[in-house]
Amino acid sequence: MITKIIKMDFSRPPEEQVRDCADIIKRGGLVAFPTETVYGLGGNALDSEAAKKIYAAKGRPSDNPLIIHIAAPEDAEAYCKTNEAYYKIAKAFMPGPITVILPKKDIVPFSVTGGLDTVAVRCPKNPVARALISEAGVPIAAPSANTSGRPSPTSARHVIEDLNSKIDAVIDGGDSEIGLESTIVLPGNGGVKVLRPGGITVEMLREVFEDVSLDGGITEKNESTTAPLAPGMKYRHYAPSATVFLIKDSGRADFDERVKKFLSGKLDREPRTGIICFDEYKKDIIGKNVFYFGKKADDEEHAKRLFDILRRFDDTDAPEIYATASDLKGVGLAIYNRMLKASGFNIIEI
Ligand code: TXA
Ligand code: MG
Repeated sequence: MITKIIKMDFSRPPEEQVRDCADIIKRGGLVAFPTETVYGLGGNALDSEAAKKIYAAKGRPSDNPLIIHIAAPEDAEAYCKTNEAYYKIAKAFMPGPITVILPKKDIVPFSVTGGLDTVAVRCPKNPVARALISEAGVPIAAPSANTSGRPSPTSARHVIEDLNSKIDAVIDGGDSEIGLESTIVLPGNGGVKVLRPGGITVEMLREVFEDVSLDGGITEKNESTTAPLAPGMKYRHYAPSATVFLIKDSGRADFDERVKKFLSGKLDREPRTGIICFDEYKKDIIGKNVFYFGKKADDEEHAKRLFDILRRFDDTDAPEIYATASDLKGVGLAIYNRMLKASGFNIIEI
């Protein structure tokens, strides 16, 4: 199959340009499309065959459920049993980078929910995504448009790297605005539990709900034998082929100086050492496999660039990678969570 690449031209309404892609979805085909978080691999969420094609193209385990994308928050009524918490979330954060887990209605096939009685719903903000869903006239099931296990795609080029010739089309809408996948929440007992941190932060959720708890798997390795609440969180993810070590911020006043010394030592011994560090380290930490991912305080920039950098390591000869992480506030928690997974929970304290 030849994968068509459709470049969006922002001088025309997105509806006109995505019409052919909406037809592909209606006919049961697959289209990768931009969202504000990462690129999604879309298919008709009410069509089991389309769901099977999504799992096959990604090489994704069939017990890992898909998120269904809707054009307006109220559309959720048709596919799941909504509740008060859902509408609180919708009012505060939709359209936007948040996904809510709700009991599913019969119309949603079990092939989409990985056999679960619940379904994940999300109303994205990106205008191209919204136009595609509206034009298709069906909810769109869309996991991130990467090969299972690789970092989520934040550009059409990343999608092509992984899925060229496996899907019908990809809509190129430029780089993802946020760069990390949506926040996933499970409502319950008047509050919400965060299953995956993302662009809607814990702090933002606390402004709406008194009770906001975090799933343990976000910052700790899940050693228990019980299944995690978001099945996808148990899989190895985002990892480049080289071993990644995550340097945790100790909060000490001399932290940066100590880390720079540590990293310089690594580079002296092995000039191919891979490093992800803050822009402030540019003067001292220089090497062929060193990537800077923004100023230390600029979480949003780290979020935008992390997945691209993780992918680029696979084209380098770095035998080992050392990455710095900032604090866990705001979107920093989501970045830390993805870096923990990329490192396989290899944390070093300096
Ligand atoms: O930002 C995003 O959410 C992107 C864009 C494309 O919308 N999508 C995305 O999908 O990240 P995916 O499939 O890569 O991640 C979906 C996560 C998985 O960890 C999955 O296990 C979880 O959502 N999930 C889906 N349905 C669920 C359910 N019914 N209960 C619990 N977790 C669920
Ligand atoms: Mg994914």
